[in-house]
Amino acid sequence: MGVVARVSGPVVVAEGLADAKMYDVVRVGDLGLVGEIIRLVGATATVQVYEDTTGLRPGDKVENTGQALSVELGPGLLTSIYDGVQRPLEILQANLGDFIARGFVAAPLNETKGWEFTATAAAGSEVGPGALLGTVPETPLILHRILVPPGVKGTLSALKSGTFTIRDPIGLVQTAQGPVPLFLSHKWVVRIPRPVREKLPPTIPLITGQRVIDTFFPVAKGGTAAIPGPFGSGKTVTQQQLAKWSDADVVVYVGCGERGNEMTEVLATFPNLQDPKSKRPLMERTILIANTSNMPVAAREASVYTGITIAEYYRDMGYDVALMADSTSRWAEAMREISGRLEEMPGEEGYPAYLGRRIAEFYERSGRVVTLSPEKRLGSITVVGAVSPPGGDFSEPVSQNTLRVTRVFWALDAQLASRRHFPSINWLQSYSLYAADLEPWYRTEIAPEWMGLRQRAVEILQEESELQEIVQLVGVDALPERQKAVLDVSRMLREDYLQQSAYDDVDTYTSIQKQYRMLRAILGFGEREQAAIARGATVQEIQKLPVRQKLSRMKWIPEAGLAGAFDDLETEMEAAVAAAGRGA
Ligand SMILES: Nc1ncnc2c1ncn2[C@@H]1O[C@H](COP(=O)(O)OP(=O)(O)O)[C@@H](O)[C@H]1O
Ligand SMILES: [Mg+2]
Repeated sequence: MGVVARVSGPVVVAEGLADAKMYDVVRVGDLGLVGEIIRLVGATATVQVYEDTTGLRPGDKVENTGQALSVELGPGLLTSIYDGVQRPLEILQANLGDFIARGFVAAPLNETKGWEFTATAAAGSEVGPGALLGTVPETPLILHRILVPPGVKGTLSALKSGTFTIRDPIGLVQTAQGPVPLFLSHKWVVRIPRPVREKLPPTIPLITGQRVIDTFFPVAKGGTAAIPGPFGSGKTVTQQQLAKWSDADVVVYVGCGERGNEMTEVLATFPNLQDPKSKRPLMERTILIANTSNMPVAAREASVYTGITIAEYYRDMGYDVALMADSTSRWAEAMREISGRLEEMPGEEGYPAYLGRRIAEFYERSGRVVTLSPEKRLGSITVVGAVSPPGGDFSEPVSQNTLRVTRVFWALDAQLASRRHFPSINWLQSYSLYAADLEPWYRTEIAPEWMGLRQRAVEILQEESELQEIVQLVGVDALPERQKAVLDVSRMLREDYLQQSAYDDVDTYTSIQKQYRMLRAILGFGEREQAAIARGATVQEIQKLPVRQKLSRMKWIPEAGLAGAFDDLETEMEAAVAAAGRGA
């Protein structure tokens, strides 16, 4: 038992903690505030406290739990909404109203609920980490695989099917160190990545149904993406679109709100979202971690680690997990504040020198992997981190350190947002370093010509930005028809392809097959337009063609029967543009 020597905001110096270790969790003061040891010199520990420290005084007691900050992993995680240290917000709120009482202890998982466990492993078999013991239907959307926890290896001497709570033993492993009871849940230290057999190269895209992402700046399953943008540019809407529509099995959403009421919004929205494929509540495959505004800064750090650890747990079951963190800048600011209180040597803009390393370590927990399981089950974690640079200036340290490790950059653009061009992902600034890795997938799964079409579209958009400079000087009428036609096609690309409303029932999601047909139609139109111009047609004349209006409504072609609809459109387009410039 130690005592508080000094309190500085969320940082407490405690003395007399003789047996403490780095990252041990301590309970501070009479309220038992949750904190974590982040510096240790002899028996003097510096603790970051995850709760409001108002009222703490030197001399107050500090109790070491001897345990590192960990999460409990088992059935019941899905549908949960947690704070940064895995306390269920629902239970906190039911007991305490909107105000979360400090030091409140709540079990992360329901301890009395009975789960239907079907054993699949046979008693008497040799088992090791990751081996499948059996399954629990956790929600109608996700079958929870109960695995042998990392570090446990031996002979499975007992295992039974039945209805169990997470506190009931379900079996026993005889290990070299003695018998180890098995449960439906186990604990894991959040700062230590869960082990895997091997990381795989990123060769499969995470299909999001968002055209600008899937077509131009795709992220791989197991990949990393950064989405920096100023306030109001669409970070949250984009991440929610990914949570809803991407082809991940499980979504972990870590929210550190920009404004006080933003997390409240998320908490109000998410439970009402519908999983588009199953029409069931999205929460049945989602875990939400929320830092409410009355929680102190240090909890943001805990929430990031809690989130990624839960993601690893579902990955280990063989699922594709998508983790959204919104916004990682709030986490970085917490690091800056704690570091300042520790009087560490500040790095760039007051952020600690280890900012880059921490950010990198977080994103490195992503990946598509071969899990520990004997059958070499595959799973993945894709990490998408929002960044909110002050003033939208991407040269600041958090954006820069993030872009150093993430392989996709979706640059949100305040100007596009103010013109209501959504998603306001700037197509000239953004990039995806996965494009080459994913090429074989696109080639075989969509069309051999896919990458060519994409390349052509990128060129047209680049040519547009160059032409626009000329237009600014001399006006559009001074351009030759051929270049006017380039502007015509690029406008179609921007308005009819890149722009996509999250709030339109049909436009909100576009399958990759439909993306292909849309892109092919626009570029096909552009080619025929150029041919017609070579024959003497004018852009003005071509713009008046009725089929041109049809092309701009392609977004709303229903997914069902899309091939036929696009075939008809292409036939009509061909005939109409062919007639132009023939002196009709
Ligand atoms: N894909 C989209 N479709 C339609 N509207 C969008 C889209 N993305 C953003 N918006 C609009 O922009 C607003 C701000 O977006 P938001 O995601 O909250 O910004 P940020 O999180 O960057 O502050 C939204 O309320 C919405 O009106
Ligand atoms: Mg936001």
